[in-house]
Amino acid sequence: MTNPTQTSSSKERVLIFDTTLRDGEQCPGATMTFEEKLEVAEALDAMGVDIIEAGFPIASEGDFEAVSEIARRLKRATVAGLARAISADIARAGEAVRHAVKPRIHTFVSTSPIHLEHQMRKSQEDVLQIITATVTQARNLVEDVEWSGMDATRTPIDYLCRAVETAIKAGATTINLPDTVGYATPDEYRAMFKAVRERVPNADKAIFSAHCHNDLGLAVANSLAAIEGGVRQVECTINGIGERAGNAALEEIVMALRVRGDVMPYDTGIDATQLMRVSKAVSSACSFPVQYNKAIVGRNAFAHESGIHQDGMLKNNTTYEIMTPASVGVTKTSLVMGKHSGRAAFRSKLKEMGYELGDNQLEDAFTRFKALADRKKHVYDEDIEALVDENIATAND
Ligand code: KIV
Ligand code: ZN
Repeated sequence: MTNPTQTSSSKERVLIFDTTLRDGEQCPGATMTFEEKLEVAEALDAMGVDIIEAGFPIASEGDFEAVSEIARRLKRATVAGLARAISADIARAGEAVRHAVKPRIHTFVSTSPIHLEHQMRKSQEDVLQIITATVTQARNLVEDVEWSGMDATRTPIDYLCRAVETAIKAGATTINLPDTVGYATPDEYRAMFKAVRERVPNADKAIFSAHCHNDLGLAVANSLAAIEGGVRQVECTINGIGERAGNAALEEIVMALRVRGDVMPYDTGIDATQLMRVSKAVSSACSFPVQYNKAIVGRNAFAHESGIHQDGMLKNNTTYEIMTPASVGVTKTSLVMGKHSGRAAFRSKLKEMGYELGDNQLEDAFTRFKALADRKKHVYDEDIEALVDENIATAND
Protein backbone atom coordinates (compact mmCIF):
# COMPACT_ATOMS: atom_id res chain seq x y z
CA MET A 1 0.00 0.00 0.00
CA THR A 2 1.32 3.49 -0.78
CA ASN A 3 1.60 5.86 2.13
CA PRO A 4 -1.31 8.34 1.82
CA THR A 5 0.39 10.80 4.15
CA GLN A 6 3.31 11.45 1.79
CA THR A 7 2.97 14.57 -0.35
CA SER A 8 4.99 16.18 -3.08
CA SER A 9 5.16 19.47 -1.14
CA SER A 10 7.73 19.97 1.60
CA LYS A 11 4.95 19.71 4.17
CA GLU A 12 3.75 16.39 5.52
CA ARG A 13 0.15 15.50 4.79
CA VAL A 14 -2.41 15.09 7.57
CA LEU A 15 -5.51 13.13 6.58
CA ILE A 16 -8.86 14.67 7.42
CA PHE A 17 -11.41 12.15 8.70
CA ASP A 18 -14.80 13.81 8.94
CA THR A 19 -17.36 12.31 11.31
CA THR A 20 -20.12 14.92 11.00
CA LEU A 21 -22.50 12.24 9.74
CA ARG A 22 -21.73 9.87 12.62
CA ASP A 23 -20.38 11.48 15.83
CA GLY A 24 -21.77 14.87 14.76
CA GLU A 25 -25.22 13.53 14.07
CA GLN A 26 -25.17 11.74 17.46
CA CYS A 27 -25.61 15.01 19.36
CA PRO A 28 -29.08 15.90 20.59
CA GLY A 29 -31.06 17.81 17.98
CA ALA A 30 -28.71 17.23 15.03
CA THR A 31 -30.49 14.36 13.27
CA MET A 32 -30.43 14.53 9.47
CA THR A 33 -32.70 12.94 6.88
CA PHE A 34 -31.42 10.53 4.22
CA GLU A 35 -31.35 13.29 1.57
CA GLU A 36 -29.62 15.75 3.90
CA LYS A 37 -26.92 13.16 4.67
CA LEU A 38 -26.28 12.61 0.97
CA GLU A 39 -26.04 16.34 0.39
CA VAL A 40 -23.56 16.78 3.26
CA ALA A 41 -21.50 13.77 2.13
CA GLU A 42 -21.24 15.17 -1.39
CA ALA A 43 -20.22 18.59 -0.08
CA LEU A 44 -17.52 17.02 2.13
CA ASP A 45 -16.24 14.97 -0.78
CA ALA A 46 -16.11 18.02 -3.06
CA MET A 47 -14.20 19.97 -0.40
CA GLY A 48 -11.45 17.33 -0.27
CA VAL A 49 -12.15 15.36 2.94
CA ASP A 50 -10.04 12.17 2.84
CA ILE A 51 -12.26 9.86 4.87
CA ILE A 52 -15.98 10.36 5.45
CA GLU A 53 -17.49 8.41 8.32
CA ALA A 54 -20.97 8.11 6.87
CA GLY A 55 -22.76 6.55 9.85
CA PHE A 56 -23.24 3.61 12.18
CA PRO A 57 -24.88 0.98 9.94
CA ILE A 58 -26.17 -1.34 12.71
CA ALA A 59 -27.83 1.59 14.53
CA SER A 60 -30.91 1.70 12.28
CA GLU A 61 -32.21 0.74 8.86
CA GLY A 62 -32.02 4.44 7.92
CA ASP A 63 -28.35 4.69 8.89
CA PHE A 64 -27.56 1.53 6.94
CA GLU A 65 -29.32 2.89 3.84
CA ALA A 66 -27.55 6.25 4.11
CA VAL A 67 -24.09 4.69 4.49
CA SER A 68 -24.75 2.30 1.57
CA GLU A 69 -25.95 5.10 -0.73
CA ILE A 70 -23.02 7.36 0.19
CA ALA A 71 -20.65 4.44 -0.45
CA ARG A 72 -22.19 3.92 -3.90
CA ARG A 73 -22.13 7.61 -4.86
CA LEU A 74 -18.74 8.92 -3.75
CA LYS A 75 -15.94 8.33 -6.20
CA ARG A 76 -13.06 10.06 -4.39
CA ALA A 77 -13.14 9.88 -0.57
CA THR A 78 -12.83 6.74 1.55
CA VAL A 79 -16.22 5.88 3.06
CA ALA A 80 -16.18 4.45 6.59
CA GLY A 81 -18.90 2.72 8.57
CA LEU A 82 -18.69 2.41 12.37
CA ALA A 83 -19.01 -0.90 14.20
CA ARG A 84 -18.78 -1.91 17.85
CA ALA A 85 -16.54 -4.87 18.62
CA ILE A 86 -19.42 -7.20 17.89
CA SER A 87 -19.52 -9.62 14.99
CA ALA A 88 -22.99 -8.54 13.77
CA ASP A 89 -21.95 -4.86 13.78
CA ILE A 90 -18.86 -5.57 11.73
CA ALA A 91 -20.78 -7.67 9.20
CA ARG A 92 -23.38 -4.88 8.84
CA ALA A 93 -20.71 -2.18 8.42
CA GLY A 94 -18.93 -4.33 5.82
CA GLU A 95 -22.20 -4.78 3.95
CA ALA A 96 -22.92 -1.03 4.01
CA VAL A 97 -19.54 0.10 2.66
CA ARG A 98 -18.94 -2.72 0.21
CA HIS A 99 -19.83 -0.68 -2.90
CA ALA A 100 -17.45 2.15 -2.02
CA VAL A 101 -14.43 2.75 -4.25
CA LYS A 102 -12.44 2.97 -1.01
CA PRO A 103 -14.32 1.20 1.81
CA ARG A 104 -13.25 1.29 5.47
CA ILE A 105 -14.60 -0.46 8.56
CA HIS A 106 -14.03 1.48 11.77
CA THR A 107 -14.36 -0.76 14.81
CA PHE A 108 -13.90 0.29 18.42
CA VAL A 109 -13.77 -1.12 21.91
CA SER A 110 -13.18 0.51 25.28
CA THR A 111 -9.78 0.13 26.91
CA SER A 112 -10.02 2.21 30.10
CA PRO A 113 -10.49 0.62 33.54
CA ILE A 114 -13.56 2.80 34.11
CA HIS A 115 -15.28 1.48 30.98
CA LEU A 116 -14.09 -2.10 31.45
CA GLU A 117 -15.38 -2.26 35.02
CA HIS A 118 -18.59 -0.26 34.83
CA GLN A 119 -19.78 -0.60 31.26
CA MET A 120 -18.32 -3.72 29.66
CA ARG A 121 -17.71 -5.84 32.76
CA LYS A 122 -14.77 -7.50 31.01
CA SER A 123 -11.15 -8.10 31.97
CA GLN A 124 -8.21 -6.58 30.09
CA GLU A 125 -7.35 -10.04 28.72
CA ASP A 126 -10.94 -10.48 27.46
CA VAL A 127 -10.67 -7.18 25.59
CA LEU A 128 -7.39 -8.18 23.92
CA GLN A 129 -9.09 -11.32 22.62
CA ILE A 130 -12.04 -9.28 21.40
CA ILE A 131 -9.64 -6.95 19.54
CA THR A 132 -7.98 -9.87 17.75
CA ALA A 133 -11.28 -11.46 16.76
CA THR A 134 -13.04 -8.29 15.60
CA VAL A 135 -10.16 -6.68 13.72
CA THR A 136 -9.48 -10.01 11.99
CA GLN A 137 -13.15 -10.26 10.98
CA ALA A 138 -13.10 -6.71 9.61
CA ARG A 139 -9.86 -7.34 7.70
CA ASN A 140 -11.50 -10.33 6.04
CA LEU A 141 -14.12 -7.96 4.65
CA VAL A 142 -12.04 -4.91 3.67
CA GLU A 143 -8.37 -3.97 3.38
CA ASP A 144 -8.73 -0.69 5.23
CA VAL A 145 -9.58 -1.22 8.91
CA GLU A 146 -9.49 1.43 11.60
CA TRP A 147 -9.40 0.36 15.23
CA SER A 148 -10.22 2.74 18.08
CA GLY A 149 -9.42 2.27 21.75
CA MET A 150 -12.32 4.12 23.32
CA ASP A 151 -11.45 6.29 26.33
CA ALA A 152 -7.76 5.85 25.44
CA THR A 153 -6.75 8.95 27.41
CA ARG A 154 -7.93 7.35 30.67
CA THR A 155 -6.20 4.05 29.92
CA PRO A 156 -2.89 3.08 31.59
CA ILE A 157 -0.15 3.42 28.97
CA ASP A 158 1.18 -0.16 29.38
CA TYR A 159 -2.19 -1.67 28.63
CA LEU A 160 -2.89 0.82 25.85
CA CYS A 161 0.35 -0.27 24.14
CA ARG A 162 -0.66 -3.94 24.41
CA ALA A 163 -4.07 -3.17 22.91
CA VAL A 164 -2.55 -1.19 20.03
CA GLU A 165 0.02 -3.92 19.30
CA THR A 166 -2.79 -6.51 19.26
CA ALA A 167 -4.92 -4.44 16.86
CA ILE A 168 -2.04 -3.91 14.44
CA LYS A 169 -1.11 -7.60 14.58
CA ALA A 170 -4.70 -8.48 13.68
CA GLY A 171 -4.51 -6.18 10.64
CA ALA A 172 -5.64 -2.68 11.68
CA THR A 173 -4.23 -0.09 9.25
CA THR A 174 -5.27 2.98 11.26
CA ILE A 175 -5.06 3.25 15.05
CA ASN A 176 -7.29 5.88 16.60
CA LEU A 177 -6.77 6.79 20.26
CA PRO A 178 -9.73 9.01 21.17
CA ASP A 179 -10.03 11.49 23.97
CA THR A 180 -13.60 10.26 24.32
CA VAL A 181 -14.57 12.44 27.27
CA GLY A 182 -12.47 15.50 26.43
CA TYR A 183 -10.27 14.98 29.48
CA ALA A 184 -6.71 15.26 28.13
CA THR A 185 -4.55 18.35 27.97
CA PRO A 186 -2.46 19.04 24.83
CA ASP A 187 0.83 18.01 26.51
CA GLU A 188 -0.63 14.76 27.79
CA TYR A 189 -2.24 13.86 24.47
CA ARG A 190 0.98 14.59 22.51
CA ALA A 191 2.99 12.50 25.01
CA MET A 192 0.54 9.60 24.85
CA PHE A 193 0.97 9.26 21.08
CA LYS A 194 4.71 9.66 21.30
CA ALA A 195 4.97 6.93 23.96
CA VAL A 196 2.69 4.49 22.12
CA ARG A 197 4.51 4.99 18.83
CA GLU A 198 7.89 4.50 20.49
CA ARG A 199 6.92 1.49 22.59
CA VAL A 200 4.72 -0.58 20.27
CA PRO A 201 7.09 -2.68 18.12
CA ASN A 202 4.84 -2.74 15.01
CA ALA A 203 3.67 0.89 15.32
CA ASP A 204 5.12 1.92 11.95
CA LYS A 205 2.66 -0.40 10.18
CA ALA A 206 -0.31 1.85 10.98
CA ILE A 207 -1.33 5.47 10.66
CA PHE A 208 -2.16 7.00 14.04
CA SER A 209 -5.29 9.10 14.46
CA ALA A 210 -6.60 11.67 16.94
CA HIS A 211 -10.28 12.00 17.88
CA CYS A 212 -11.01 14.75 20.38
CA HIS A 213 -14.10 15.84 22.25
CA ASN A 214 -14.51 19.36 23.49
CA ASP A 215 -15.68 19.01 27.09
CA LEU A 216 -12.94 21.36 28.32
CA GLY A 217 -12.79 23.38 25.09
CA LEU A 218 -9.47 21.70 24.18
CA ALA A 219 -10.49 19.53 21.23
CA VAL A 220 -8.70 21.52 18.52
CA ALA A 221 -5.62 22.23 20.68
CA ASN A 222 -5.41 18.52 21.52
CA SER A 223 -5.75 17.51 17.86
CA LEU A 224 -2.89 19.84 16.88
CA ALA A 225 -0.75 18.53 19.75
CA ALA A 226 -1.46 14.97 18.57
CA ILE A 227 -0.08 15.85 15.14
CA GLU A 228 3.13 16.91 16.86
CA GLY A 229 3.04 13.53 18.65
CA GLY A 230 3.08 11.73 15.28
CA VAL A 231 -0.58 11.47 14.35
CA ARG A 232 -1.29 11.77 10.60
CA GLN A 233 -5.08 11.55 10.67
CA VAL A 234 -7.39 13.84 12.62
CA GLU A 235 -11.06 13.15 13.21
CA CYS A 236 -13.33 16.15 13.30
CA THR A 237 -16.74 17.54 12.41
CA ILE A 238 -18.04 20.59 10.59
CA ASN A 239 -18.90 23.38 13.05
CA GLY A 240 -17.54 21.09 15.80
CA ILE A 241 -20.91 19.39 16.28
CA GLY A 242 -20.91 16.17 18.27
CA GLU A 243 -21.64 14.43 21.57
CA ARG A 244 -22.02 16.81 24.55
CA ALA A 245 -19.73 19.83 23.92
CA GLY A 246 -18.91 18.51 20.46
CA ASN A 247 -15.89 17.26 18.51
CA ALA A 248 -12.85 19.10 17.20
CA ALA A 249 -14.00 21.51 14.48
CA LEU A 250 -12.71 20.63 11.00
CA GLU A 251 -12.57 24.26 9.85
CA GLU A 252 -10.47 25.28 12.86
CA ILE A 253 -7.92 22.48 12.41
CA VAL A 254 -7.60 23.13 8.68
CA MET A 255 -7.14 26.88 9.10
CA ALA A 256 -4.79 26.56 12.09
CA LEU A 257 -2.50 24.40 9.94
CA ARG A 258 -2.86 26.78 7.00
CA VAL A 259 -2.36 30.07 8.86
CA ARG A 260 0.37 28.75 11.20
CA GLY A 261 2.21 26.59 8.67
CA ASP A 262 5.35 28.39 9.87
CA VAL A 263 5.26 26.45 13.16
CA MET A 264 3.10 23.47 12.09
CA PRO A 265 4.37 22.41 8.66
CA TYR A 266 1.49 20.10 7.68
CA ASP A 267 -0.89 20.13 4.73
CA THR A 268 -4.45 18.91 4.42
CA GLY A 269 -6.21 18.26 1.13
CA ILE A 270 -9.07 20.61 2.02
CA ASP A 271 -10.17 23.40 -0.32
CA ALA A 272 -10.65 25.96 2.44
CA THR A 273 -12.63 28.33 0.24
CA GLN A 274 -15.54 25.88 0.59
CA LEU A 275 -15.55 25.96 4.40
CA MET A 276 -18.28 28.59 4.82
CA ARG A 277 -20.57 26.94 2.28
CA VAL A 278 -20.21 23.51 3.90
CA SER A 279 -20.65 25.01 7.38
CA LYS A 280 -23.96 26.56 6.27
CA ALA A 281 -25.06 23.33 4.58
CA VAL A 282 -24.44 21.32 7.78
CA SER A 283 -26.03 23.94 10.01
CA SER A 284 -29.17 23.99 7.90
CA ALA A 285 -29.29 20.18 7.39
CA CYS A 286 -29.20 19.48 11.11
CA SER A 287 -31.01 22.70 12.17
CA PHE A 288 -28.12 23.46 14.47
CA PRO A 289 -27.19 27.16 14.57
CA VAL A 290 -23.54 28.20 14.45
CA GLN A 291 -22.62 30.39 17.42
CA TYR A 292 -21.99 34.00 16.36
CA ASN A 293 -18.41 34.07 17.62
CA LYS A 294 -17.43 30.63 16.27
CA ALA A 295 -13.89 30.69 14.86
CA ILE A 296 -13.67 30.73 11.03
CA VAL A 297 -17.38 30.30 10.21
CA GLY A 298 -19.28 32.31 12.86
CA ARG A 299 -21.03 35.40 11.55
CA ASN A 300 -18.75 37.61 13.69
CA ALA A 301 -15.52 35.87 12.62
CA PHE A 302 -14.80 38.67 10.11
CA ALA A 303 -16.88 41.47 11.67
CA HIS A 304 -15.42 44.47 13.47
CA GLU A 305 -17.31 46.98 15.59
CA SER A 306 -14.81 48.81 17.77
CA GLY A 307 -13.60 52.17 16.49
CA ILE A 308 -9.93 51.29 16.94
CA HIS A 309 -10.27 48.02 15.03
CA GLN A 310 -12.38 49.58 12.27
CA ASP A 311 -9.84 52.38 11.86
CA GLY A 312 -7.04 49.79 11.55
CA MET A 313 -9.02 47.68 9.08
CA LEU A 314 -9.71 50.70 6.88
CA LYS A 315 -5.98 51.36 6.71
CA ASN A 316 -4.81 47.77 6.24
CA ASN A 317 -6.73 44.55 6.83
CA THR A 318 -3.78 42.67 8.31
CA THR A 319 -4.07 44.88 11.39
CA TYR A 320 -6.91 42.82 12.82
CA GLU A 321 -7.36 39.81 10.51
CA ILE A 322 -4.98 36.84 10.38
CA MET A 323 -6.61 35.33 7.30
CA THR A 324 -8.68 36.84 4.53
CA PRO A 325 -12.43 36.20 4.51
CA ALA A 326 -12.06 34.97 0.90
CA SER A 327 -9.66 32.24 2.04
CA VAL A 328 -12.53 30.50 3.87
CA GLY A 329 -15.29 31.44 1.43
CA VAL A 330 -16.65 34.51 3.22
CA THR A 331 -17.52 37.34 0.81
CA LYS A 332 -16.01 40.20 2.78
CA THR A 333 -15.06 41.71 6.08
CA SER A 334 -17.91 43.63 7.66
CA LEU A 335 -17.52 46.80 9.64
CA VAL A 336 -20.55 46.69 11.89
CA MET A 337 -21.93 50.08 12.85
CA GLY A 338 -22.58 50.36 16.58
CA LYS A 339 -21.80 52.46 19.61
CA HIS A 340 -18.14 51.41 19.49
CA SER A 341 -17.65 52.57 15.90
CA GLY A 342 -15.50 55.61 15.19
CA ARG A 343 -15.63 58.51 12.73
CA ALA A 344 -13.42 56.80 10.14
CA ALA A 345 -15.75 53.81 9.84
CA PHE A 346 -18.81 56.07 9.84
CA ARG A 347 -17.37 58.15 7.01
CA SER A 348 -16.46 55.03 5.06
CA LYS A 349 -19.96 53.58 5.59
CA LEU A 350 -21.56 56.78 4.31
CA LYS A 351 -19.34 56.72 1.24
CA GLU A 352 -20.29 53.09 0.58
CA MET A 353 -23.96 54.16 0.82
CA GLY A 354 -23.41 56.99 -1.66
CA TYR A 355 -23.34 59.98 0.72
CA GLU A 356 -20.68 62.70 0.50
CA LEU A 357 -21.09 65.04 3.49
CA GLY A 358 -19.17 68.17 4.32
CA ASP A 359 -17.20 68.29 7.59
CA ASN A 360 -19.93 70.01 9.61
CA GLN A 361 -22.69 67.80 8.31
CA LEU A 362 -20.57 64.73 8.94
CA GLU A 363 -19.88 65.82 12.51
CA ASP A 364 -23.55 66.42 13.12
CA ALA A 365 -24.58 63.09 11.61
CA PHE A 366 -21.91 61.30 13.63
CA THR A 367 -23.19 62.80 16.90
CA ARG A 368 -26.72 61.68 16.06
CA PHE A 369 -25.45 58.26 15.05
CA LYS A 370 -23.67 57.81 18.41
CA ALA A 371 -26.82 58.83 20.29
CA LEU A 372 -28.86 56.34 18.26
CA ALA A 373 -26.29 53.56 18.75
CA ASP A 374 -26.47 54.07 22.52
CA ARG A 375 -30.22 53.43 22.41
CA LYS A 376 -30.30 50.69 19.79
CA LYS A 377 -28.56 47.31 19.80
CA HIS A 378 -28.34 47.04 16.03
CA VAL A 379 -27.88 50.04 13.76
CA TYR A 380 -28.90 49.03 10.26
CA ASP A 381 -28.15 50.79 6.96
CA GLU A 382 -31.76 52.03 6.92
CA ASP A 383 -31.24 53.71 10.33
CA ILE A 384 -28.17 55.52 9.00
CA GLU A 385 -30.03 56.49 5.86
CA ALA A 386 -32.91 57.98 7.90
CA LEU A 387 -30.49 59.79 10.17
CA VAL A 388 -28.49 61.35 7.31
CA ASP A 389 -31.60 62.30 5.33
CA GLU A 390 -32.98 64.02 8.43
CA ASN A 391 -29.63 65.73 8.86
CA ILE A 392 -29.64 67.00 5.27
CA ALA A 393 -33.29 68.15 5.59
CA THR A 394 -32.49 70.13 8.77
CA ALA A 395 -29.49 71.72 7.09
CA ASN A 396 -31.69 72.81 4.15
CA ASP A 397 -34.40 74.36 6.39
O1 KIV B 1 -15.35 9.44 21.10
C1 KIV B 1 -15.12 8.25 20.79
O2 KIV B 1 -14.41 7.53 21.48
C2 KIV B 1 -15.75 7.74 19.58
C3 KIV B 1 -15.33 6.38 19.12
C4 KIV B 1 -16.48 5.60 18.59
C5 KIV B 1 -14.23 6.53 18.11
O3 KIV B 1 -16.51 8.44 18.95
ZN1 ZN C 1 -16.35 10.54 19.52
